[in-house]
Amino acid sequence: MNTLPASVRIVEVGARDGLQNEKTIIPAATKIALIDRLSDTGLRTIEATSFVSPKWVPQLADAAEVFAGIAKKPGVSYPVLVPNLQGYERAAEAGAREVAIFTAASEAFNRKNINASIDESIERFEPVLERAKADGTKVRGYVSTVLGCPYQGEVPVADVVRVAKKLHELGCYEISLGDTIGIGTPGKARAMLRAVAGEVPMAALAVHFHDTRGQALANILACLEEGVAVVDSSVSGTGGCPYAKGATGNVATEDVVYMLEGMGIATGVDLPKLIETGLWLSAQLGRQTSSAVARASAAA
Ligand code: HMG
Ligand code: MG
Repeated sequence: MNTLPASVRIVEVGARDGLQNEKTIIPAATKIALIDRLSDTGLRTIEATSFVSPKWVPQLADAAEVFAGIAKKPGVSYPVLVPNLQGYERAAEAGAREVAIFTAASEAFNRKNINASIDESIERFEPVLERAKADGTKVRGYVSTVLGCPYQGEVPVADVVRVAKKLHELGCYEISLGDTIGIGTPGKARAMLRAVAGEVPMAALAVHFHDTRGQALANILACLEEGVAVVDSSVSGTGGCPYAKGATGNVATEDVVYMLEGMGIATGVDLPKLIETGLWLSAQLGRQTSSAVARASAAA
């Protein structure tokens, strides 16, 4: 077992993964206020929105307006999702300096989510990476369904390794491994990460757990022990992919920060401010927060 990292970088995905899955469309002003509040908590990476097809994800059709409206804090990165060159061009036009491309280890999920096979999606990314390189824009890569697929079921670890390796070879500086439907358990998460780290340096890997079955914190701990030091999470535990049947929220950032800081692992995040932001967001969404840490704080 490796020693635990001294610090972890959190990639906050609530404004994107969270709000893409809401039934009602959240006003751009609320999205902007959320990101501005998050910028004030010490988070260094805040995924802002997606330049995907507005027909596929109407919830984020206001991507350009949101990106233009946020106060970009120096030292904070605001990546945005792009599925193809058209999305990259919209993102670049809006001023994005970091983008994230996304594909999956499962053919069946990829077809539902981006209407492409894995290899077709990678072909689409090649020009995106070329343009990004020329523009000096950083590119992160996501691999979804790394521990199981809602349509295909089991996903062989070899498929996860192949896709992650390919994205890294193409030039993604970091690959986020997504348990899209929150189906994994710690032993499987650890084995999957170890296999990927055999081909991609651990320093270029991140983990992204949805908490559908309450396993996310345990999975994160197993992956920290394996050497990962970048964790994706979502304030108030919002999230889910509209094209992944049964996917619910991401692990709540409040709960991740509480666990990490409690273990002496630095995150740079001001937990009380983050909790306040999460409670503000859940009030905007008209429901209780999924963060146990925020609920305990509100009840105290
Ligand atoms: P398609 O229908 O096959 O695309 O969708 P197309 O190229 O045939 O284009 C069809 C129409 O869409 C055209 O417009 C294009 O102009 C337009 P029309 O001629 O019909 O008026 N279009 C676009 N418009 C704006 N921006 C664009 C764009 N691209 C095409 N970028 C496509 C293919 C990839 C576009 C579509 O499937 C799509 O947008 N999918 C996105 C789905 C999505 O956002 N899912 C959630 C994010 S992934 C996730 O949540 C998982 C993650 O969190 C990790 C994890 O949890 O595992 C990252
Ligand atoms: Mg996700």
